[in-house]
Amino acid sequence: MLVSAKDMLNAAAKGHYAVAAFNTNNLEWAASILDAAEATQSPVIIQCTSGAAKWQVSFKVVADIVKNLVEDKNITVPVALHLDHGTYEDCLKCIDAGFTSVMYDGSHEETFEINLEKTAKIVEIAHAKGISVEAEVGGIGGVEDGVTSKGELADPQQCKAIADTGIDFLACGIGNIHGLYPEDWEGLSFDRLQEIKDLVGDLPLVLHGGTGIPTDMVQKAIGMGIAKINVNTDLQVVFAKATREYIEAGKDQQGKGYDPRKLLKPGREAIVERAKELICDFGSNDKGWA
Ligand code: 13P
Repeated sequence: MLVSAKDMLNAAAKGHYAVAAFNTNNLEWAASILDAAEATQSPVIIQCTSGAAKWQVSFKVVADIVKNLVEDKNITVPVALHLDHGTYEDCLKCIDAGFTSVMYDGSHEETFEINLEKTAKIVEIAHAKGISVEAEVGGIGGVEDGVTSKGELADPQQCKAIADTGIDFLACGIGNIHGLYPEDWEGLSFDRLQEIKDLVGDLPLVLHGGTGIPTDMVQKAIGMGIAKINVNTDLQVVFAKATREYIEAGKDQQGKGYDPRKLLKPGREAIVERAKELICDFGSNDKGWA
């Protein structure tokens, strides 16, 4: 059954572990993430950006795929289906399509007041349907935005103001960046994380850009209140590597090695194995219904 992400993240924050939020791109991706969660008996969040939903036709198709997989694979752990970095309109579409959680990313709005206002509105609409809400303060940069060695640091007072709208969890920049980290990355700012935590209290915090952060740094952040970790690039990289090895070994040209089920199998298995490792690093294994 799909559930909202609220209870699983409150339990994670209390228990000092984090739930992995893996981005999905297609049926194989979603099935692999679910296999990893079931094998480790971990709660999991499957999340989708509007771009990945477009690739799969629509948010409705994504919701139907994930819902049916959870049912037909007899998944026994809690699974939330979450919109990643949505606009206001995306949030409304996902609420209608059957998502159980949404992220309204108002960090690109012209002013913080607009972010605050729209976040509060989404909270009202989503909560009326039992759907959890993530908001964001301060942009989370990416290497594609230019050469940057330092991610943005969210303003703690803005974090407090947005927390007070009644959101269920908050993404706040603490030096993290989407995508692969540059060589000269300065690392996470634990000082800023502490300042934010002191103001927002028990609210679960979200670490975006989960790919490539050293495990000890991730675990320290979890100990300080990070309860959801977003991972996208990491699974894309292991999928690409396994697929490349298959093709470079010439296996697609042997027998019926070109069959998509054979061609995609190594990548699918690589996603399962890597997701299991990350789940264990984040400490949510065996926390199914904690
Ligand atoms: P990465 O691609 O760096 O893992 O970031 C994922 C993310 O934060 C999605 O919101």
